[in-house]
Amino acid sequence: MPKEIEAELISALPMDFSALLVAWQRQHGRHALPWQRTRDPYRVWLSEIMLQQTQVSTVLGYYQRFLERFPDVRALAAAQLDEVLAMWQGLGYYSRARNLHRCAQAVCERYDGEFPRSAALLTELPGIGRSTAAAIAAFCFDERVAILDGNVKRVLGRLLAFDGDLASSAQEKRLWRLADALLPEPAADMAAYTQGLMDLGATLCTARSPQCLLCPVSDLCRARAGGDPTAYPIKTRKLKRGRRENWWLWLEHGGRIWLEQRPERGVWAGLWTLPVFDDEAALAAQALSMGAQGELEVMPRIEHALTHFDWVLHPRRAALGAAAGTGEGRWVAREELASYALPAPLKRLLA
Ligand code: ADE
Repeated sequence: MPKEIEAELISALPMDFSALLVAWQRQHGRHALPWQRTRDPYRVWLSEIMLQQTQVSTVLGYYQRFLERFPDVRALAAAQLDEVLAMWQGLGYYSRARNLHRCAQAVCERYDGEFPRSAALLTELPGIGRSTAAAIAAFCFDERVAILDGNVKRVLGRLLAFDGDLASSAQEKRLWRLADALLPEPAADMAAYTQGLMDLGATLCTARSPQCLLCPVSDLCRARAGGDPTAYPIKTRKLKRGRRENWWLWLEHGGRIWLEQRPERGVWAGLWTLPVFDDEAALAAQALSMGAQGELEVMPRIEHALTHFDWVLHPRRAALGAAAGTGEGRWVAREELASYALPAPLKRLLA
């Protein structure tokens, strides 16, 4: 889009928006969440990383336990990665935990244990994207920087009836510029404004059933004026989900389970799981070579949704007379399982 047209769009922005949103957040938004009662960037950073793919209700327990074990960035940097992964167990998307650990180490090495106080420097740290950096800088340092995560794209996309296709990076950049132009003028409003965008997206301006009658900015909303708020934002590229099918070998001997660690890359990187096979014959051959006798027990299949595919896993179980481990794995006693990072579906299966 030519710069003059964009300037015109910016000059026509609903400038009451930020003031209305801030007033609404202060009255009706969420205030009592544990990471809202602090301006400590370590705590705010931790909460933002946890909240990226996980609901508030789930994060609450993890957040408290994590802080008890790692009360500050130095404690986290000094920890073993395995222990960080074990604390993350069940939250999923483990690259977040790996980056969390790397980021804590970077903050200690580069900044002597103090998080830098600007979004620009925060984005240079491992695992902190533009929107997360902006959220931390707005919440902790009142910096005037825009966030634009999935929920906020929806809120602003509707407010502005933004007609660009957000699958295009040029259009996404355009929306970032508009988001910048909408920021409140007094920097002291940045925390309430940023939280207000998140709260609006999470509670009223939801993907499928927006509650426009309760919305503080419905009079300004151009998508609503057009009659169909859910028509925005526009995103053409649909994620094509795949499907994978594998067989899982569950061997037990004397109260211990045979586990293998997944490679450092790919699905469930670094987590401990049952050995995985592409077909039942390969699984049966391995079971036999480890001393399983007779029929394997067929367990109910597990369906697990990952970002890019649905994973169907078929567990087969056998009890061994003797513990004969081969290859990269180990026998883990049931009482020790808690100190291993296991993917959530395996944890459920073994329970
Ligand atoms: N999701 C991402 N950040 C959040 C926050 N600060 N509060 C509630 N939900 C969030």
